[in-house]
Amino acid sequence: MHAAGLDGIELQAYGHLMDQFWSPLTNTLEEPYGGDLDNRLRFTFEVLRAIRQRVGETFIVGVRYTGDEMLPGGLTSGDGMEISRRLKDSGLVDFLNVVRGHIDTDAGLTDVIPIQGMPSAPHLDFAGEIRREIDFPTFHGAKIQDVATARYAIASGKVDMIGMTRAHMADPHIVRKIIEGREEEIRPCVGANYCLDRIYQGGAAYCIHNAATGRETSMPHTIPKAAQQRRVVIIGAGPAGLEAARVAGERGHSVVVLEAASDAGGQVRLTAQSERRREMLGIIDWRLARCEALGVEIRYNIWAEVEDVLAEQPDVVIVATGGYPMEDQPEVGHDLVVNTWDILSGHVPPGKRVLLFDDAGDHAALQAAEIIAAAGAELEIMTPDRTFSAEIMAMNLVPYMRALQRANVTFTPTYRLKIRTARRWRAARQDHQRLHGSGARTAYRPGSGQLRHHADGRHLFRAQTARQQWRRGELR
Ligand SMILES: Cc1cc2nc3c(=O)[nH]c(=O)nc-3n(C[C@H](O)[C@H](O)[C@H](O)COP(=O)(O)O)c2cc1C
Ligand code: SF4
Repeated sequence: MHAAGLDGIELQAYGHLMDQFWSPLTNTLEEPYGGDLDNRLRFTFEVLRAIRQRVGETFIVGVRYTGDEMLPGGLTSGDGMEISRRLKDSGLVDFLNVVRGHIDTDAGLTDVIPIQGMPSAPHLDFAGEIRREIDFPTFHGAKIQDVATARYAIASGKVDMIGMTRAHMADPHIVRKIIEGREEEIRPCVGANYCLDRIYQGGAAYCIHNAATGRETSMPHTIPKAAQQRRVVIIGAGPAGLEAARVAGERGHSVVVLEAASDAGGQVRLTAQSERRREMLGIIDWRLARCEALGVEIRYNIWAEVEDVLAEQPDVVIVATGGYPMEDQPEVGHDLVVNTWDILSGHVPPGKRVLLFDDAGDHAALQAAEIIAAAGAELEIMTPDRTFSAEIMAMNLVPYMRALQRANVTFTPTYRLKIRTARRWRAARQDHQRLHGSGARTAYRPGSGQLRHHADGRHLFRAQTARQQWRRGELR
């Protein structure tokens, strides 16, 4: 590192080699490397001395370490304080970087690096206590996702520097935007943890909120103006439609978005109904703000017909109308069936004994499960897959499992419901058209549990949900 011209290094010691010597849970050695704290720190100081001998005094060397393993029999906060003191007194390091917890399990890792729905800056006060007691340059980073929290951490004197990893992945231009007084343009990290969860599956560290992150060689963060302005019509103001609108706006095009619902966000707005995923709204709010700043026009409550689109004289038309939940019907009991959107939107209250059949393995099922379990229902989650929630990666699964295990939910993998071939929604739509005339057009409104009835091509209103009619037997 020194020879490569870098200014310094930070050694990691929270679930890594050095702190395995520190922790009584992992160090079962005898002298000279096991036993009392002097012995358990021996390896660390040997390494630090060897580094100093090679790099000299001016190269910056620090240690990022756990100041409290928060495990029975592990390093305590008292041990952490003593280790901090000895690191300072050694004269071998220039700074401390304090974290708290352990990373040997998914749950432990998720507490060290909290995801969305978990508290912000949960270890800041702890790092601040070490800073106050030891009086030595101290860094900290763990879910300090916005500039306001970082500013508070520094201004209050809790620590000397804040690390923001995911915030910089969501917006690598944070610092430039602060310097240029453009803080309101910062794309906020929403804590979805797609980035970190992916790397534990051998994937690239992509960002759910910023498609350019990790793809910089093919997709720039800063979007250049187009040589020629075009008229762009986008159908749908969900996340994809809004992103298309934002990028087209950045390119300098004239953009109009036509949205059937009365607000933007589509399924992201629906997923953000759960407290656990509320931060996802940042994906929509940031894009709406950017679209407004870029002069993108968004028209709500409009069901885009061919003539509506053509009236805009578009050069480009982008269809981003999203999807629907799976509506396959079981052979028996179909009168009892609702879907995840019904539960997430609060449109249908959960029953008392619920079988949740999950053929997708994504967030919607576990979000619905949490709502159902919280309502006190007896819940069984069934999936035809070998494992449940296959699309939810490690750290994202942790908060769900904590909630669902507390509620005694049963998990049943490798079973499939016997499904009717016809999709209920399609059948319901046909019935709806039978009731309102063959020209009637319908759309399921995300989150409302309602079919929209579009009678004359101009007037849009909510029809009584075909699902409710189905349940009452009116549509059989
Ligand atoms: C994609 C990604 C990769 C990471 N890789 C490492 C790593 O190799 N070693 C490490 O100690 N921490 C790693 N981290 C953890 C970060 O250093 C940081 O502790 C964590 O993301 C919490 O800070 P944040 O809330 O600002 O993101 C990684 C984080 C992310 C998002
Ligand atoms: S994937 Fe989520 S947690 Fe990771 S940087 Fe992007 S917004 Fe933040």
